[in-house]
Amino acid sequence: MNVLPFQVVPNAPLLRAQGVTIEYPAAQGVVQATHDVSFDVWRGDRFVLLGPSGCGKSTLLKAVGGFIAPRAGSLQLDGRDITGPGRDRIVVFQEFDQLAPWKTVRQNVMFPLLAGKMPKREAEARALYWIGKVGLSRFLDAYPHTLSGGMKARVAIARALAMQPEILLMDEPFAALDALTRRRMHEELQALWEEVRFTMLFVTHSIEEALVVGNRILLLSPHPGRVRAELNSHQFGLHSAGGAEFQATAGRIHDLLFGGGDVADEPARAVQS
Ligand SMILES: Nc1ncnc2c1ncn2[C@@H]1O[C@H](COP(=O)(O)OP(=O)(O)OP(=O)(O)O)[C@@H](O)[C@H]1O
Ligand SMILES: [Mg+2]
Repeated sequence: MNVLPFQVVPNAPLLRAQGVTIEYPAAQGVVQATHDVSFDVWRGDRFVLLGPSGCGKSTLLKAVGGFIAPRAGSLQLDGRDITGPGRDRIVVFQEFDQLAPWKTVRQNVMFPLLAGKMPKREAEARALYWIGKVGLSRFLDAYPHTLSGGMKARVAIARALAMQPEILLMDEPFAALDALTRRRMHEELQALWEEVRFTMLFVTHSIEEALVVGNRILLLSPHPGRVRAELNSHQFGLHSAGGAEFQATAGRIHDLLFGGGDVADEPARAVQS
């Protein structure tokens, strides 16, 4: 008899969150950051976690990154429980100072590759490729303090993609940029995704950014974060921002997020768009 060495699960999501409740220890008891959050991210998704400040978006991202463990529920990547950080999940943070200030652009992008035991020549070739992809080939030997915020964000994205993670975790990576630069970053991220089709879990509290960046959006209630709704947003992008359908959907999302009422007893709703 021919026995397969492993079980093939067709059409399984890349990332599966099931009933994820996360708590932090606090002076008096615990702070509950998220409550019973479930979602699936499929390969190639630009999946957005959207919700107001304090609803547990960063907490969820850190749990997917393997930096904190849920109090209840499970997180699985490719069918395996997430038990700690791994090179298959790379986080891009909001802060610009995530780059090492004493390293050049080239050295910053090469560093995690070398730390992963990649031969220097290969790491350099890989770094140059990705630095080129984000349009910074002229700044290979520049130090972070000489770069603009948008350029630093590009370096962080190049460094993350050079690692070829299974999933790119982005925590409000453009929040500190001015509106025009943020818009340009959205365009560039979209172009990169069209080319590479990486999988992305993107956190934001901006409804417009969620609609522009994501193909699927999970709406989280205010603290502690619970799933309010999930919607498809692949039809929206920079081209449609400001259009009537875009504005109408943004308005509906706003009402769902801030409409009030107790979501505790309310099942998650699917938003038709
Ligand atoms: N290290 C920590 N210790 C205790 N409580 C924490 C810790 N980190 C976050 N929290 C609490 O958990 C909740 C969720 O925080 P989190 O940072 O995940 O929110 P967020 O949705 O990312 O907010 P923002 O949009 O402001 O970044 C908040 O109530 C916060 O005060
Ligand atoms: Mg946050």
